[in-house]
Amino acid sequence: MARDGRGLRAGDAVEVVVEKGVYRGLGLARHEGQVVFVPRALPGDRVRARVQSLTSGYARAEVEELLAPGPGRRTSPCPFFPPCGGCAYQHLDYAGQLTLKEQVLRESLARAGAPWEGDIPITGSPEQGWRTRASFHLASRPDGLRLGLYAEGSHRVVDLPRCLQVSEAMNGTQRALAAALAKRPDWARKVRGVELAESADGSRQVAALETEMDPAAAVALALLADAAPALTGFGVVAGQDRRRRFHLLRGEPYVEAEVRGRPLRSHIGSFFQGNRFLLESLATAVVDLTPRGGTVLDLYAGVGLFALALAEGADSVAGVELNPTAVEDARHNAERAGLGRVRFHQGEARQALLSSRPAPDERVILDPPRTGAGADVVQAIAARRPSVVVYVACDPPTLGRDLKTFAAAGYVPDAVRAFDLFPDTFHLETVVRLLSR
Ligand SMILES: C[S@@+](CC[C@H](N)C(=O)[O-])C[C@H]1O[C@@H](n2cnc3c(N)ncnc32)[C@H](O)[C@@H]1O
Repeated sequence: MARDGRGLRAGDAVEVVVEKGVYRGLGLARHEGQVVFVPRALPGDRVRARVQSLTSGYARAEVEELLAPGPGRRTSPCPFFPPCGGCAYQHLDYAGQLTLKEQVLRESLARAGAPWEGDIPITGSPEQGWRTRASFHLASRPDGLRLGLYAEGSHRVVDLPRCLQVSEAMNGTQRALAAALAKRPDWARKVRGVELAESADGSRQVAALETEMDPAAAVALALLADAAPALTGFGVVAGQDRRRRFHLLRGEPYVEAEVRGRPLRSHIGSFFQGNRFLLESLATAVVDLTPRGGTVLDLYAGVGLFALALAEGADSVAGVELNPTAVEDARHNAERAGLGRVRFHQGEARQALLSSRPAPDERVILDPPRTGAGADVVQAIAARRPSVVVYVACDPPTLGRDLKTFAAAGYVPDAVRAFDLFPDTFHLETVVRLLSR
C-alpha cells in the first residue's frame, strides 16, 4: 500500500478538523502535520475520513462520518448532492458560501504571488433557478440511460431528474429528452450530452445534442424535439474533427437577455454569462470601473456584453472574439442597439494585440476563458501601456497567475469585486481593475 514519510497509508481512517476551504470545494485538514484534502468537508467540520490516495505533499480522503458540523452546515436542499458533482456547497448556508468564496479568492491570489489586502465587495445571487446555460452528460448503458452531471472527481454520470440550478422549464426539457432517448437506444448510444440555453426571462429555450453522428444521420433526431414543447430551437452537434459543427433542425438557435436596457442575442454555440440574475450587476461593475472616454478594447468579447455596455461612455469601442458565431451575434446586437460604430473583429486576442497599434488613451477589458489570458497576452496588453485594464475572471488561480505577470509588467490592482455567478458551486467571478504603477 502507498505510504508517505509521515505514516499515513491509503485505506487508513483519520479523525480531523477542517481548517479551511480551498479551491474546487475541498476542505483542508491536517493529520499529525500532514495536509489532508477532503472533498465536501467544510471549515470547522470534525470528520472521520478514509485516506484514498497519497502523494509526496498531501493525502486525499473521503468523509466517512461527520462527527461534529462546522458553522453554517445545513441539510442539502438538493437530494442528488452528493453524489452529483455539479455543486460543491449545497450543504453550506448561502452566507457561509460567500464568506468561504471570498477567503478562497484571497488565498488563490496570495498563493499565486499576487496578494490583495483591500476590500472585496461580493454580490450574491438567488440560489436556485439562476443558470441559463447547462451541459448534461448522457450515459447509455444496458442497465438504462442516465442524463445528468458527473460524480465528484469522476466521469461517472449521475442521473439528475431535477437540478436546482436551472429553471423548471429546463428541467422539464432535459427529462423529456432523456425519456425520448430512452425509447431510442440506437440514437442514445451516439449522443454524448445535451446542451441547454434559456433566455434570461424564460421566453426561449434551445437544446443542442452532442452526437457522434454524421450530419446526414443526425437529421433524424429532429423528432426528439416533439417531446419537449418548451423548445423554441433544437439542433445537433455532428460531424468529425474540423467539420464538426452545430446543425439547426427546428426553430431558432438563439436565446436573449436584456442588459442595461439592450437586448442581447446569443446563439447556443456562443458563450454567454450563465447567471440570469447577475448579468446587470456584472456589466455595470465593468462600466463603473472603466473611466469614461478614450478607446475601449474588449478582448474575449463574446456577444458584446461589455463592449455594448461601455459604448455610450467611450469615444470608440472594438471587440475581439475568436468564435465566429459569437461575432455574428455581437454584430447583430450592436446593429440592433444602433451602435454600429462598435466594431467586432473575429480572431485571437493575442494576434489582435500584436497586429494593431495601441490607441493614445486606451482602456483594455479582458474576460478570458477559465485557463486565463496567459503571459503572452498579459505582456502584449501591458506593452500597449493602456490607462486602465479591467480583468473579468472566472477562475481565481489563473487570475492570480495573470495578476502576477501584470505586476511584473507594471500594472497593479486598485479595485477587486466578486460576483457569485455560480451559487452552490466552487466557482466565483471576479472583476479586477489594474492601473499602471
Ligand atoms: C469567458 S467568455 C467571455 C465572453 C464575454 N466577455 C461575456 O462576458 O459574455 C470568453 C470568450 O473568449 C472567447 N475566446 C476564447 N479564446 C479566445 C482567444 N484566444 N481569443 C479571443 N477570444 C477567445 C470565447 O469564445 C468566449 O466567447
